Amino acid sequence: MDIVPLGPGFAAELRGVTLADVAQGDAAFEATRALLDEHSVLVLRDQDISDDIQLAFSRRFGPLEVTKVGSQGAGTNLVILTTIGPDGKVAAPDSRMALRNKANRLWHTDSTFKRVPAFASVLSARIIPGQGGETEYVSTRLAFERLDPALRRRLENSFAWHDYAHSRGQIAPDLASPEVRAALPPQCWRMVWKNPANGRSALYLASHAYAIEGTEKDEGLELLGELMAAATAPGTSYVHRWRAGDVVMWDNRATMHRGRPWPAHKARLMVRTTISATAADGLESMRPPSQQAAE
Ligand SMILES: [Fe+2]
Repeated sequence: MDIVPLGPGFAAELRGVTLADVAQGDAAFEATRALLDEHSVLVLRDQDISDDIQLAFSRRFGPLEVTKVGSQGAGTNLVILTTIGPDGKVAAPDSRMALRNKANRLWHTDSTFKRVPAFASVLSARIIPGQGGETEYVSTRLAFERLDPALRRRLENSFAWHDYAHSRGQIAPDLASPEVRAALPPQCWRMVWKNPANGRSALYLASHAYAIEGTEKDEGLELLGELMAAATAPGTSYVHRWRAGDVVMWDNRATMHRGRPWPAHKARLMVRTTISATAADGLESMRPPSQQAAE
């Protein structure tokens, strides 16, 4: 296996390994798991991709999320990110499907709004537009390390509230339906996620974050905005330009990402699998003390 660095201090391409190698072999899995802890974003190119092999690869890393109501693939372990409507045509730019794609362009971490947040995500390219449609990543670990020590200490003991409806509301007021809102009540997480494997801490933020526990609303929003800006400062990102056969895996505990626009009339189809965080991934220390005591 060869490791080729891609981004500014994080992200790497793995060469000489396939999805099947990791799905079937313990050594390939162990190596990939360790490299994810180290590099936060892993790129595998020229893969033979199918739903089955993506699922088998992803399951090695932990329990898979079941896709939420209101998303394509609901009730399965696959999230279908597409611009192709049920009629086989590319959806109109003002359709809910297109608006959901637009919401994906906000910097975020997957599933911070869920009762069990995501450890990692695996995204495969199935149909890609000729131009645009990149996925852009930043390291929230490097962002945390850039902050001054006093702020780092404060954030280690701060908790933020995350709500899916908040991020969707930045695109259209009713983009999160009442059914989705009811299924996804706000969640509260520590603002720093410490990786138990290497002891390195990362900011835990997202477009879904809307308040800081114990902090006045405007002041909390202001600090969240400042931290988001610091974490996504120019020159800190890795932009992945998709090719057919690409698979990208990222550690949601240590990154944020966003989708980049592409010509609205072009089809794009991506499939995501999402691995839930477990105690071994450091999940318990993310809960506010009141919830730790209650469980
Ligand atoms: Fe995402």
